[in-house]
Amino acid sequence: SDFIYPLFIEEGENIKEEISSMPGQYRWSIDRVGEELAELKELGITSILLFGIPKHKDPQGSEAYNDKGIVQEAIRYIKKNFPEFLIITDVCMCEYTSHGHCGILDDCEVLNDETLKFIAKIALSHVKAGADIVAPSDMMDGRIMAIREILDENGYVNTPIMAYSAKYSSNYYGPFREAADSAPSFGDRKSYQMDFRNSKEYFREVEADIEEGADFIMVKPALAYLDVINAVSNISLPIVAYNVSGEYSMVKAASQNGWIDEKGIVMENMFAMKRAGVNIIITYHAKDIAKWYKNKEVIF
Ligand code: PBG
Ligand code: ZN
Repeated sequence: SDFIYPLFIEEGENIKEEISSMPGQYRWSIDRVGEELAELKELGITSILLFGIPKHKDPQGSEAYNDKGIVQEAIRYIKKNFPEFLIITDVCMCEYTSHGHCGILDDCEVLNDETLKFIAKIALSHVKAGADIVAPSDMMDGRIMAIREILDENGYVNTPIMAYSAKYSSNYYGPFREAADSAPSFGDRKSYQMDFRNSKEYFREVEADIEEGADFIMVKPALAYLDVINAVSNISLPIVAYNVSGEYSMVKAASQNGWIDEKGIVMENMFAMKRAGVNIIITYHAKDIAKWYKNKEVIF
């Protein structure tokens, strides 16, 4: 029950495509994702984080706030057929923009304030479709307030916001960008994501998100940032760690080569996050761990 499992939903039919850099993780079309949801339900993992992969991309990422877009349709499908799931949606633009950046561009620059309107619109459209929690990952300043305002104005006063608060500009996102087809076509994300050399900035980011109305605080990536997790662990909101794609892929690759004991390493990593003070873990390992517990292959 401490886990959130990420799912990649792709527009199209009859898709179950393994992500080559993330063994065991797939892109699913809506008509087949039920296979995965049934397995998750059986294993007792009923919190999911949805990412969408649209067919059409444009500079404004318009598919992201299309009420009939891939994530919106996936939410409706899951709510109808698997009502026991808690649905969290990733709110961002990079999977939907033709340039792959997380916001609106003015030539080569991402425009913070212009992007806020779009981020708010995306969040509202997810919630209208039935999302239980929205999780903005774009890292624009002021996005939590913008989302809180639009949700409140539309009557969704009880829908929580899970803020990707301390999100670093990280090399560990590499496999995800392949999975979600969201790599920036030029430049990098350093103007909006955080500089990992800075040991103080997380404080301002977390403080701002709390003031703006965040209900959960996330640190991302997880394992190279346990100091940050530990430093924020005493605040009075639930702390979420995102154990990201690169962290998963490294463990899987070494394990497939027979270089490490996968179960031992994965459990050690999970308890490291817990020891640092995490309440909730978003991880691609969740299904494996649940299976190991069920079969008594790990005992803690
Ligand atoms: C999109 C987003 C990213 C991840 C989650 N949401 C990639 C990025 O910021 O480039 C990374 C997740 C992972 O690596 O598992 N903004
Ligand atoms: Zn993004």
